[in-house]
This record gives sequence, structure tokens and C-alpha cells, in this order.
Amino acid sequence: MKKVLTIVSAILISCLLRAQDTKMNEYVSRLISQMTLDEKIGQLNLVTPGGAVTGSVVSKGVDDKIRQGLVGGLFGITGPDKVRQAQDIAVKNSRLHIPLIFGLDVIHGHRTMFPIPLGLSCTWDTLLIERAARIAAREASADGLAWAFSPMVDIARDPRWGRVSEGSGEDPYLGSVIAAAVVRGYQGKDLRNNETVMACVKHFALYGGAEAGREYNTVDMSRIKMMQYYLPPYKAAIDAGSGSIMSSFNEIDGIPATGNRWLLTDLLRKQWHFNGMVVSDYTSLNEMEAHGMGDLSAISALALHAGLDMDMVGEGFLTTLKNSLKQGKVTQQEIDQACRRILEAKYKLGLFSDPYNRMNADRAAKELLSGDNRKAARETAVRSLVLLKNDQQLLPLKKTGTIALVGPLANDQRNMLGTWSVAGDFTKSIPVMAGIKNVAHDIHIIYAKGANISDDSMLVKRTNTLGLEIETDSRSADAMVDEAIAAAKQADVVVAVLGEAADMSGESSSRSDISIPESQENLLKALVKTGKPIVLVLFNGRPLILKWENDHVGAILDAWFPGTEAGNAIADVLFGEYNPSGKLSMTFPLSQGQIPIYYNAKNTGRPYPGDGNTKFKSDYLDIPNEPLYPFGYGLSYTRFDYSPISLSTPDIAAGRPVTIKLTVTNTGQYDGEETAQLYIRDMVASVTQPVKELKKFQKVFVKKGESKEVSFTLTTEDLKYVNSDLKWVYDPGAFKIFVGGNSRDVVQTDLMGVMPVVPATKGSMQKGKN
Ligand code: BGC
Repeated sequence: MKKVLTIVSAILISCLLRAQDTKMNEYVSRLISQMTLDEKIGQLNLVTPGGAVTGSVVSKGVDDKIRQGLVGGLFGITGPDKVRQAQDIAVKNSRLHIPLIFGLDVIHGHRTMFPIPLGLSCTWDTLLIERAARIAAREASADGLAWAFSPMVDIARDPRWGRVSEGSGEDPYLGSVIAAAVVRGYQGKDLRNNETVMACVKHFALYGGAEAGREYNTVDMSRIKMMQYYLPPYKAAIDAGSGSIMSSFNEIDGIPATGNRWLLTDLLRKQWHFNGMVVSDYTSLNEMEAHGMGDLSAISALALHAGLDMDMVGEGFLTTLKNSLKQGKVTQQEIDQACRRILEAKYKLGLFSDPYNRMNADRAAKELLSGDNRKAARETAVRSLVLLKNDQQLLPLKKTGTIALVGPLANDQRNMLGTWSVAGDFTKSIPVMAGIKNVAHDIHIIYAKGANISDDSMLVKRTNTLGLEIETDSRSADAMVDEAIAAAKQADVVVAVLGEAADMSGESSSRSDISIPESQENLLKALVKTGKPIVLVLFNGRPLILKWENDHVGAILDAWFPGTEAGNAIADVLFGEYNPSGKLSMTFPLSQGQIPIYYNAKNTGRPYPGDGNTKFKSDYLDIPNEPLYPFGYGLSYTRFDYSPISLSTPDIAAGRPVTIKLTVTNTGQYDGEETAQLYIRDMVASVTQPVKELKKFQKVFVKKGESKEVSFTLTTEDLKYVNSDLKWVYDPGAFKIFVGGNSRDVVQTDLMGVMPVVPATKGSMQKGKN
């Protein structure tokens, strides 16, 4: 009965959707039939009047263009009143009164900032991430916005690339489930609901594969590598219904993404059935000229033909398409199609019924940075923190006694939000010192800045482009260090809060040396010499090189950039109000020379057995192959032990899943949450496969002294890989199954993959008998 009801409701929903689509098509077709060519091309134009810009070009004469119907959307402004003014021009003063779509880089929260996406991904908690996106959508939509330029789902294996801070790390599976969660959070069930925003998954595609980790650099990879490791998160976001997608700056197979027809049409539209709109990245259309693809007119035609619908900032479409149509370089149908997709997006967002549906001053006053939102941000932030080291249970700290709170980020407000906090207000963020006072009222704090974030004047200047993130003290480095040592000497424990400034990661923030800046390393070395126990709290938008720190410091807590509630969340973890549960979504190299380093690597033909006999094996003469902290790693104040794995059947076949069970026991002194991770290895395949691949994970809360059973169901779908025909296939054969609290420390067993047993038919039975 239940099954019948489900089928009936599925049919009803699909009929309803079809009816809605028909209505939308009729509406949009009628509108297009009334539009002039200029107005159609105008819809393809996305402009920014300034504010948070990420390129050297800013749109000019915006108001006039809106009046003339030459603008389809606008980004970079917020606030119901400001946005309303711009919408008024479009709706009241343009000929056809077509509303604008308003977008912004809502990346990890809108006004209430959540942890940077890399930190969020370390929660491995899709419900929590979906809720964060939901809150961001509610705030952004109250603030006038209908469109968020996220999630960024670019897989990255090179921590030198600053934009790793905006993504979910190196793994396609984790990246995919997070991508889908963010889209669900933003878009809800129906975009007409004015508390939603349309997602814009980016940067399509492979932007995270930039050579040498250098921003905007060339990408070159095989189709198999794209399909299996880099493209799945974009696909997951699209399958979750993302209404739009942004083309990336880089080239793919030698053709920039923004003009790449294979990417934007063959793959995206034909294979993946995406029917939303495609927007370029900031002037990425015009940049095809620098890539060497022709002049503005040629590249604009190329991009339109490739499948780009909207041109961000560069106005290549606006200024060339009319002429190109006359010259037969583009077709009317191509222009109409792009225009249709933009109008459809506006229709889906309910903008034609009410162009002001997301400009609600009352809601904005009530919701932005509300107590509830801040509470959610704190709950999320505590779960994003990753405990990297905790010798002799140095953490959690007692709430009494004296601590020396040292470091340039220990009493800093500006850097708490991290990169891409466009609408975030850092003056509302909680510094670490204030958080400690809030959580541990009786503790005595002796504060010393100890060092500047960096003393490298070039790095300081470049980091401060968007604001004074690195403040250079008037005192000498020695004087600051001396003050810190004096503080340390009077304290029971030192909490050193060090790391990167917010914009030392993010866009255009690649670093060749990903260590803690020298000024702070000197401070830490001096602190270590005092012999006091040291807790290192790190701010960073990327994995850092922490070998020395790991060797010399008692405890290391990676805070990333936790957002508005930074200080409170860090204090919650430091003083044991929350037992840390974050797990790394990106490998921390031992040495810069290992980069790129990632857990799902291939075995090679000469794997290094780790026996010290290094000649003619795949290794280095001077450093080990292993990273400092592997993917999936993160400690807790308690300890979790994994039992051996039991399988429901020793083999798996299509249509015959296997259940994998084991017990996680909390053998330590604290209740805590563990993320049990399931990896596979395909031992024999037609294309070489990685030594480990994450396929499932499960979060379990286990009280101290108790055990919980964890159970995973694996199907042959989970065992598929991309073969030389670029098809996802399952090959029967030997598999290894690993389960553990990170990608290195696992229990394992074998699984046989077999072909399904075909039930014998009467005829074949008889044949068998003969
Ligand atoms: C970035 C995008 C961003 C856009 C608009 C670009 O420079 O690459 O991620 O959405 O600017 O701000």
C-alpha cells in the first residue's frame, strides 16, 4: 500500500512539475517574442557596481544600462533598500519591466559567518552543513539577494593553491555529499519561497587542478582523472538541483572553460541534463583573449556557442553579439536560448510575480546575525575544529589557574571570519581572548601579541589589499617576543594563537611556502624554550607544514577560520565544553616537496614498502612518503577502538549488496563523536585504481565506556570506476575493505566481487541435464 502511495505521489508531483514547466515556457516565450535584440543581449549581461570585486574591471554606467534593458543581473550590493532601488529602475523604468536577479558571493554564511568551507567540510556532517547553508539563504534572501555564488566544489590536491579554503578538500565522495547538502540548504524545495536563494556551483571545471598551486594557472589532466576524481562534486550539485553553474578561469584540454563546448554543452547539457543557467566567472570571457583564443568578438561568439548564458562583468556579449549576429558568427537561436535560460531562472525564483520578494527590511532586522543564527554558527564551528596533536592529555585545559595567551591572532577580531566573508561584519566576531573569558570565567589570562602575523613587507602589503588584516606593531620583533616569554614564565600553560591572516588564503592567495610565517615561528621557538606546556591554536585556510610544531609542541588545535563565533567555539573546545570531532578533508604534507600529496593515490609499479631499503622504489632520498596528518585524521579527547569487520556475505554482485558491520568502542574518559570512514581498494581493474577510496562514512556518538555498532551497505555501484571508454563500470574481482577513524589507521578485510548468479531458466536446466 505504502509503495502504491509513493508511486501515485511521484506521478502527481511529476505532472505538477510538467504543468509548471509548461506555464513557465509559455510565459518566457511570450516575453521573448516582445524583446528587441538589444534587450535579449542585455539579459546576458551581469554587472557589478563595485564593492567586493575580484578583478580590475568594474561595470560603468550601471543605472543607465538597467534603464535601457541592458542588464540581466547585478552582484555586489546588499541590503533590502539598496537592492530595491536598483530593482525599481529595472521594474519601473525599463521598457519591459523585467526584474533583475541579484547575486553575491555568499560562501560560508551571509552576515552570520560560519567556518570557511574547508573547515565546514571537516565536520563531515552534511545535515549541519545543510543547516548552515539554510541559515545563509534566509539571511541573504532577507537582505535582497536571490542568488549565491556557491558552493565551490573544486577538488584540490595542492595546498599552495589559496582557494582550497573555499572548497571541501581532496576527496570526490566527501566533496559530492557536501555539494549536494549546500544546494539543498540554499534552494529548499521550491525557489519561489522567498527564503531561498539559487545556488551557483563553481568553478566548472577542474579549477582546483591549477599547476603548481598557482592561482589561475593552466590545468591539464586526463579525461579519466577528471571523470573519477574531479567532476563528481559538480555533478552531485547539479543532481541536487543547482539552478546555475559558473564556468572557471582555467583551460580544459587546451580550451578555456568559458568557451569550451565539450564542457558546457556535450558534458553539462547532453550527458548531465543540466537545464539551468551558466554564468562566466569574473571577466573569464574576456580573459580568453589573453589565453590566445582571439579578439573580444571572436571569443564572445565562441563562448555563446559553447553554451555560456551570462557574461560576468566583461560585457563581451553586450558589446559584440549584435554585430556577430549580422556577420553570421552566432545565430538568433543561440542568443534566444541563453536569454531564455536567464529568464527561466528569474521565473523559477518567483521574480516575475514579485520582483521585490527578497527585499524585506523587517525580516532582515530580525534575522541577520540573530541569536539563533549565532548559536548555530557556534555549534557548527566547534565541530569544524580538528585536534591534530594532544600529548599526555594536555587538552582540555582546566578552567582555573593562569594561561599565557600569546600570538598575533589571540586577540584579533578582523581575521576570525576568514576569506570570502563579503557581507560578514568582523566587528561582530568573537576574538579568542573574549571567547576564553566567556567560557572560563575564573581563569587568569596574561596576554602578549608576541609577533606580527608576518614581517615580510611584500606579503603584508599583498595580504592587506582588501583591508588591514596584518597590523604591524610599532615595537621590534625582539621586544614582542620578550613580552611573550615573560607572560609564559608566569603561566601554567601557554596558548599560542598563530597562523595565517584571513586573506593569506582564498582567491589570488597562492603561497609557495605554506609554513607559519617566520615572525611567528621565531615566537613559537622562543616559547618552546621556556619549557612551559604549549597549546598551539592555528588559523589557516589551507593545510600547513607543521613538522617542527608537531615535534615540539604538546597540543595542536586547527581552528581554520571559524567565523563570527570563532573565540567562543575555540574556547568551548579548549576547555572541554565540546570534545573535538573534526576530521581533515585534506592531507597535511610533511614537507613542501611532497606536494601534491593526497590519500587516494595510485600504488605505482614500485611501491615503497617502508623498509628503509629505498633504492629503485617510488620514494624520496631525504623524506618519507607519508604525510604528517593523513586525510580523515582528527583526534578526540577520548579514544575510539574499532573491532574487526564482519561482512554479511563474503562476496558482492550487482543486485546483491553486502552489509559491513563493526563495533566502535569508546575506551577513553570522555563521551565523544567519531566519524567511521569506509574505504575500498579495487585490487585488479582495467584501469589502475587508488590504494584507498572513501566510499561511505558515518558519524556515531559513543558515551565513554560504551560501544556502538556501525553498519554500511555497499553495492556494486560503489565499486565502479571510470574505464578507458570513460564509462563507470564494475569489474568483478578482489576488493579490500578498510574502516577506521582516518585513512591511515584502519581495520581491513577482503571482499570478492562476482557476477550475479543468473537464475536458471527451464530451458537451461534441461540443457544442463543433457
Ligand atoms: C571568483 C568567483 C566569484 C566571482 C564574483 C571571481 O573572481 O573566482 O568565485 O564568484 O569573482 O565575485
